[in-house]
Amino acid sequence: MAHEGPAASTVTVNGRQRELVTEPDTPLLYVLRNHLGLKGTRFGCGLGVCGACLVLVDGDPAYSCDTPMWSVEGKDVTTVEGLGVDGQPHAVARSIVAQQAAQCGYCMSGIVVRAAHLLAGNPDPSEADVRAALDDNLCRCGSHNRVVRAVLAAAAEIRGGTP
Ligand code: FES
Ligand code: FES
Repeated sequence: MAHEGPAASTVTVNGRQRELVTEPDTPLLYVLRNHLGLKGTRFGCGLGVCGACLVLVDGDPAYSCDTPMWSVEGKDVTTVEGLGVDGQPHAVARSIVAQQAAQCGYCMSGIVVRAAHLLAGNPDPSEADVRAALDDNLCRCGSHNRVVRAVLAAAAEIRGGTP
């Protein structure tokens, strides 16, 4: 879709409605980081292939580097900051920290978003389910094995009643 000049859009981000004026083709990632200060969402490849910028749009995973503002008008965006409950990070994020699963951590926001989406739809995933879900989230530090263990531990915690 072709657009010319800045335009206003209304987007709900982490439960809060925002009125934003941007070029319609501006990637959502830039708006999250630079307009709204939500730095958890990372710029990796900028091409929709690494997963560092993953967010949820209306509950579905979306690469925010490859999501123009015009396409999220009226939608609900959830970033890694918005996944937690009662002021705590999401159980997956806490488990990754507790198990020291990350190395540099750059890829982890996208991984937490992806894993949270998995567990929302499948609270008792197998290891293969977790590996398949995370397959498109690249980690150049090679942390995936520890991350998979952390996600499975988080799933068990959530099933046990931990938020
Ligand atoms: S930065 Fe968006 S997929 Fe890599
Ligand atoms: S922990 Fe460094 S890229 Fe994943």
